[in-house]
Amino acid sequence: MQTVLITGCSSGFGLEIARGFLAHDWQVIATMRTPRTDVLPASERLRVLALDVTRPESIRAAVEAAGPIDVLVNNAGFGSAAAAELMPIEAMRELFETNTFGTIAVTQAVLPQFRQRKAGVVVNVTSSVTLKPLPLIAAYRASKAAVNAFTESMALELEPFGVRVRLVLPGRSPDTRFAENAREHMYGLDHEAYADLVKNVFARFQDTSVPVTYATDVAEAVWRAATDPSCPTRIPAGADAYAWAAEAA
Ligand SMILES: NC(=O)c1ccc[n+]([C@@H]2O[C@H](COP(=O)([O-])OP(=O)(O)OC[C@H]3O[C@@H](n4cnc5c(N)ncnc54)[C@H](OP(=O)(O)O)[C@@H]3O)[C@@H](O)[C@H]2O)c1
Repeated sequence: MQTVLITGCSSGFGLEIARGFLAHDWQVIATMRTPRTDVLPASERLRVLALDVTRPESIRAAVEAAGPIDVLVNNAGFGSAAAAELMPIEAMRELFETNTFGTIAVTQAVLPQFRQRKAGVVVNVTSSVTLKPLPLIAAYRASKAAVNAFTESMALELEPFGVRVRLVLPGRSPDTRFAENAREHMYGLDHEAYADLVKNVFARFQDTSVPVTYATDVAEAVWRAATDPSCPTRIPAGADAYAWAAEAA
């Protein structure tokens, strides 16, 4: 039986990705900053472990407790909104600490076993916003675009060892806790110089006529990334992400 370890399973995409692998009869190691067993269906194939991707000791303990795994899904992350000029540099570091360095650190902790076993898949969940420039998310885009660049180079290094590396790029998903969690990472949105821009951007978020992404789209894309060796390195997830990927091509 195959085993997947997923980061950020307390809500949203991570929770749905975990559900998906359980439904496919895999062993699932669902990791969360604050472990809870009540959010996922009870199963002998499910283990919930504590993992904060910004803490090296937490990463070491979780990877050791997990034992051998076949697939790593780096999903943990958060959003932020601010004009580039107005986001405190410390807040940017915090964003990169989770979205970028957290992803890299968990990957580094798992790669030795994949390389030695000459097998394994790393799936990094980034974002379709990396496909086109949008205002007020410069730092968030950069934190995810850095993961894209890192992942694509790493894929070339690991190919000779039979280790696959994939990117899943979800579109905007209003159903997860993403927007709520991003609220405490917003800076300077009341600054008069950016008032019109802020109004326009947030009005677009209220538009319910545009296509969006569902957590199930992301779970399906991650499943494909993990199990289909013929799939491309970048996999959009969700109707809006597909449209943006087609525009960018
Ligand atoms: N929703 C969207 O529109 C969207 C679009 C494109 C990409 N994404 C990306 O998709 C991923 C999942 O987002 P989501 O929409 O499912 O949002 P979500 O519901 O807020 O889930 C984010 C998850 O990441 C976890 N997390 C945050 N910081 C962490 C840390 N330091 N260590 C471990 N876990 C941490 C959160 O755990 P806690 O409960 O402990 O905070 C939560 O489980 C993120 O990487 C996000 O950037 C989201």
